[in-house]
Amino acid sequence: MVGLVRSEASAKKLMAKTKCSLEEVVISDVTQMQFENVGDDIQQNPWPRALDGTEAMVICTSAVPQISKLSVIKAMLKIPLNILAKKKAINFRDLVFKYKPGQYPGMVDYVGQKKQIDFAKKLGVKHVVLVSSMGVLDPNNFLNQIGKDKRGKGHGDILVWKRKAEKYLCLSGLQYTIIHPGGLVDTESGKMELELDVDDALMRNEKKSISRGDVANLCIAALTVSGGKSVSFDCIGREVPDENAHVRSAEDVFKDFLKTGKTADYRLGPASY
Ligand SMILES: NC(=O)c1ccc[n+]([C@@H]2O[C@H](COP(=O)([O-])OP(=O)(O)OC[C@H]3O[C@@H](n4cnc5c(N)ncnc54)[C@H](OP(=O)(O)O)[C@@H]3O)[C@@H](O)[C@H]2O)c1
Repeated sequence: MVGLVRSEASAKKLMAKTKCSLEEVVISDVTQMQFENVGDDIQQNPWPRALDGTEAMVICTSAVPQISKLSVIKAMLKIPLNILAKKKAINFRDLVFKYKPGQYPGMVDYVGQKKQIDFAKKLGVKHVVLVSSMGVLDPNNFLNQIGKDKRGKGHGDILVWKRKAEKYLCLSGLQYTIIHPGGLVDTESGKMELELDVDDALMRNEKKSISRGDVANLCIAALTVSGGKSVSFDCIGREVPDENAHVRSAEDVFKDFLKTGKTADYRLGPASY
């Protein structure tokens, strides 16, 4: 197994966290990924040898917004007034987020995903799992506003670009599994009952979170029990009343979902998607 990270700093963090070796890490900015063979010499790989013979790829890159320090200071200064007015101390929507130059959603979540999908084809990968996000059908979803100014200008629309990349994968000819998780939380996996559905139906739930570990287990289930089927689905975790209660494994939940024959309908959503 090989993990791709953007920078040396991210590689060090990953190695410290997972205790993996240097050979298991590839550093590449996906927005700049190159994968042409050098001349006619098929011996010369433009990518690390560790990637040769790759059978499956899990894509979970995503543009990372940075918080504007100025907006944090402004929000802090407003706290006393908000408390006096019996409002929320900090209004999350007052905080301003920006993407680093060249690292905004159009580049990372669309160009970067497309490059990885093309790269998968080049490597002869058989199955691509793409971790996208729930809410992709709603252009007014708050996540799409991140990176834009008050007039709606600037680089944003992360879910719009994710949806476009999903469509690219669907048309790629590769076997695919597209996973739309709700909000990711760092709780222990296997503690919540997983619920899978399609087309943002789960957005109606009050609680829409899922553990990162459960999403990872769904990725593994997709690679092991899909049986040649390509599907796209949403997922959340439901709390169970008793923490010792039995919850079905990600693999069992995914197998049952496959039996329903459901998959996302890519004709839905605004025509510009
Ligand atoms: N967080 C949520 O609540 C949530 C909800 C639904 C779906 N998701 C999806 O779940 C996945 C993981 O989310 P997360 O919250 O764990 O995100 P995250 O921690 O921000 O991870 C995104 C990763 O993408 C990497 N990345 C960004 N730009 C890159 C580039 N140009 N080249 C190579 N790597 C790049 C980042 O690398 P660096 O560490 O170097 O920045 C980071 O490791 C994403 O697809 C996200 O859209 C997240």
